[in-house]
Amino acid sequence: MTDSTPATTAPAHTSRRRVLAAAPAAGAAAALAACSGPAEPSAVPTAPSDAAAHVVAPAADLPRGSKLAVEIDGRNYLLFRPSETDVLAYRALCTHQGCQVMVGEADAFQCPCHNSEFSPEDGAAVAGPAKDPLERFAAEIDGEDVVVYV
Ligand code: FES
Repeated sequence: MTDSTPATTAPAHTSRRRVLAAAPAAGAAAALAACSGPAEPSAVPTAPSDAAAHVVAPAADLPRGSKLAVEIDGRNYLLFRPSETDVLAYRALCTHQGCQVMVGEADAFQCPCHNSEFSPEDGAAVAGPAKDPLERFAAEIDGEDVVVYV
């Protein structure tokens, strides 16, 4: 592990289910309240002491500059690897009305419901009606694995 390693338990090798198909989330319960204005992307999060480490993919499946969707305990997350040593993880829940955000074909993560787009670099809303950034989680490249702390 590197200096940026969150202090948690060893990765659990229980969640390797990758989500590659588009499936907009249904349910008004997941819908968020109307946005009040743009928000700054959150700083790099520190894994809470009770966060569990989840090995979500082989590092080889997320080459530098690429994006990937994964599932952890039934929830969808989006990954972006900006460099060989770093990986960023976001909850794939649109901050507009709660649809599932997808990896998308373009550079940005994309919400199919009303076409909001989010920057893979920091989760910021960059297009469409969403104003707030995606929720971010601690993540790292740990040897051959991508680990997300949820
Ligand atoms: S729910 Fe994502 S853009 Fe509206």
